[in-house]
Amino acid sequence: MELGDSGRRLGVLISGRGSNLQSIIDAIASGRLDAAIAIVISNRADAAGLQRARDAGIPTLCLSHKDYATREECDRAVVAALRAHGVDLVCLAGFMRIFSSEMLEAYPQRILNVHPSLLPAFPGLHPHRQAIEYGVKCSGATVHLVDGALDGGPIVVQATVPVKDDDTEETLAARILAEEHRIYPEAIRLVLDGGWSVRGRRFVQRSV
Ligand code: GRF
Repeated sequence: MELGDSGRRLGVLISGRGSNLQSIIDAIASGRLDAAIAIVISNRADAAGLQRARDAGIPTLCLSHKDYATREECDRAVVAALRAHGVDLVCLAGFMRIFSSEMLEAYPQRILNVHPSLLPAFPGLHPHRQAIEYGVKCSGATVHLVDGALDGGPIVVQATVPVKDDDTEETLAARILAEEHRIYPEAIRLVLDGGWSVRGRRFVQRSV
């Protein structure tokens, strides 16, 4: 392993565009986040985010679930790749797959996800559409630790945005995405810095 940053090595998992990956790359480059991305793994060969990683000189890997008989087998391959690259913290950034216990047990309280709603409202698919159809007046972004539940797990950071009367899924998504890009690096820093614990469902700082 050529990178330093022992204990601060990230593995970022993507499925598509990779703008959240880019926000992590940029936060590291600007010194706002003291970490190193050891590997970017995509479950799709055509994920645009893979090029962002290559442009930043980060090793990439494509592991498609289609090449594995079971979810567990696929997860074992992902875990093996993460371990081979010395990954300490796994960051899901638009990764559209659900993990088996293989992954959760390999990285307990060491997997983060970003979701474009104020969880626990609107988990799962089409959260922007869900928010508009429900009629909420504010929505936002959530970074949370990953446990077995869909978009569940203790909340590390949230940010709110207004939902405007003339919002479409696209305009709301753009407003929320700007907040995702702001809070994801911040949440990664909090988790890497330590001094936190999980009490019940709550992610709490030592000083609390
Ligand atoms: C983000 O809105 C993320 O919250 C959701 O999927 C989107 C991924 O965007 N899970 P990107 O690939 O990071 O640009």
